[in-house]
Amino acid sequence: MTPQNISTEPFPVSRNVKKMQASSTLKAAQVAADLRDKGFDVIDLSVGEPDFQTPDFIKDFAWEGLQKGLTKYTPTSGLKTFQESIAEFYAEEFNTNFSPKEVIATCGGKQALFNAACALLNPGDEALIPKPYWVTFPEIVNFVGAKNVFIETEETDFILTAEQVKNSIAPKTKLLILNSPNNPTGRVISPEEMRRIIQVCAEKEVYVLTDECYLFFVYPPAEVFTSASLPAELRKYICVAGSFSKTYAMTGWRIGYTIADDEWSRAMSKLQSHSTSHPTSFVQYACACAVQNHKKSKETINLMLSEYGKRRAWLIPALQEIEGAKCVNPEGAFYALVDVRGFLNAELKASADIADLFLKEAHVVVTDGAGFGADGFVRISYATDLENLKKGVAKIKNLLQATKTKTAI
Ligand SMILES: Cc1ncc(COP(=O)(O)O)c(C=O)c1O
Repeated sequence: MTPQNISTEPFPVSRNVKKMQASSTLKAAQVAADLRDKGFDVIDLSVGEPDFQTPDFIKDFAWEGLQKGLTKYTPTSGLKTFQESIAEFYAEEFNTNFSPKEVIATCGGKQALFNAACALLNPGDEALIPKPYWVTFPEIVNFVGAKNVFIETEETDFILTAEQVKNSIAPKTKLLILNSPNNPTGRVISPEEMRRIIQVCAEKEVYVLTDECYLFFVYPPAEVFTSASLPAELRKYICVAGSFSKTYAMTGWRIGYTIADDEWSRAMSKLQSHSTSHPTSFVQYACACAVQNHKKSKETINLMLSEYGKRRAWLIPALQEIEGAKCVNPEGAFYALVDVRGFLNAELKASADIADLFLKEAHVVVTDGAGFGADGFVRISYATDLENLKKGVAKIKNLLQATKTKTAI
């Protein structure tokens, strides 16, 4: 029997969600998967996750956690051993002195960022976001009804300076969202500049949410730096968003954390208690054990870093050799942002068209820069093996050169 008097109106998506853009990085991943399903040999240079497996010793700890019966709810802010292990790991590694209570376990870095922004911002507040930015930052700010104010950084080769921040702070500025090493540029802000930026913000009572999910993926001479190592007077204004996703190749486990002072942490914990409660209990246990095993976890990180380093050493000169393309030196993470504005013409009007060309003509997937606030650029990820990278870049190079030749004719 067909139900009567039932409306067939479409689902009334909320205004909050309607104004969100679908994640361009996830969209690129979906395009690659669809092509693969159709049997094409796809070269995916869009991946935003390590191409390594989670180390076995962490998997073993997860199993140990299960065997110990860690299958129940944990406190909202996480297992005590998780909070303590993060605080101890940072203390050993960076000489920090924050308390375990300042750590909250989250479902990935993404929830850490959401918690921090939602616990602070009100409608009408302004959040400063340096360009290019990770796609999710402006969406979170929009979601809470605050306003995004972008800072252009091209003139400083995409490295944010304290001067730029100072010039951007206005009466309604409440938050600055930082990301170093940066996705999509790979640029790294030096420890000295980072201190200056945070000092400038603290003086104006502007809070700083610093996304450190690529913390350890830094190529010397650039230096690894965490804002958690700053003095307590400055830390009052800082929330660090950390993640196990990239550091330990654990993207699917969904675990991250925040480090913030007591009051900000309490507000975030209250929020999280009504959303996800906490990340998976035995995953928290596995991560706590992993970081307690400091030496082994650093070995794991260094193995990945060395592999990324080899790829980067090949990739950057190869991209810089493409006539008409430009690429600033990525000092961290595993991305290169390529300036393709020199190839735009009547047919290829935006970088999205160039990404499309790579896809259709060569089955090479890259991510359009527009979603990162970098229209005219494409992001290439080197979280893929060197052979794949070489094949993909050769195809891209041929296509770009053909575009130039065609334009010249
Ligand atoms: C800059 C940045 N922040 C945060 C995240 C979120 O990571 P996760 O939620 O997996 O920890 C990502 C993932 O790509 C990222 O690139």
